[in-house]
Amino acid sequence: MTNKLKYFIGNWKMFGDFGSFKIVSKINQYSYKHQKSNKKKIILCVPNTLIHYFKKKLKSEFISLGAQNCHHHDGYGAFTGSVNASMLKKMGAKFIILGHSENRTEGETNQLIKKKIISALNQKLNIIFCIGETYTEKKEGKTFSILKKQLKNSLERKFKMNKIIFAYEPVWSIGTNKIPSIDELRNTIKFIKSECKKIFKTKKIPRVLYGGSVNRKNIQLFSTIYEIDGFLIGGASQSSKKFIDIIKNYYK
Ligand code: PGA
Repeated sequence: MTNKLKYFIGNWKMFGDFGSFKIVSKINQYSYKHQKSNKKKIILCVPNTLIHYFKKKLKSEFISLGAQNCHHHDGYGAFTGSVNASMLKKMGAKFIILGHSENRTEGETNQLIKKKIISALNQKLNIIFCIGETYTEKKEGKTFSILKKQLKNSLERKFKMNKIIFAYEPVWSIGTNKIPSIDELRNTIKFIKSECKKIFKTKKIPRVLYGGSVNRKNIQLFSTIYEIDGFLIGGASQSSKKFIDIIKNYYK
């Protein structure tokens, strides 16, 4: 087993209330107890309504909290229902998911996501930048060209690569129990790393996660791919047991 730092990031999506703190607390305790056994970082991206509450309830933090999206505008403004990166930062978010396919489906373009990335970087938030192809794009053999476009059109060389964690999430694998083959996934992760190095003109190796139907059963398959730096976990992160089992099984 590798000693490289691995990320286990929960994406709660539209889930949870104050009572859900028990999930956070159990995961925090697990992280505390196992902090020395492996090099890992646990982050929970929860709804905006819960970030501040969880932050205050957590007496000592062995996990980090994150948000799931933001408005692209830096300051306050007439944007009904929206929250910007600065507001999320003040609530206690250290990380933020941007470019998730569920938001792309609602109309987010690569250009809009770029504006959000800029705004989040201005707030010194760490970004979890999601990219991924649809099933049709995959069938048409367009996976690499789509990923390249998503990266190129939302990033600039001057952005701080060390503030961005990339998450490869094939749209067809999110919440479907379908996962890519291991060879396919290894090649795609390598491709993303090499494209990012080109964009940022760096020799440093970007961090790339996988997300899409990760569960306690399939996690061991993924652990055979050295290039993967961690996982973005949706459905299974809404249960402390399922989430912790994923981490345990990864290191088995
Ligand atoms: P899933 O979601 O684990 O439920 O497939 C992943 C995600 O949307 O980030």
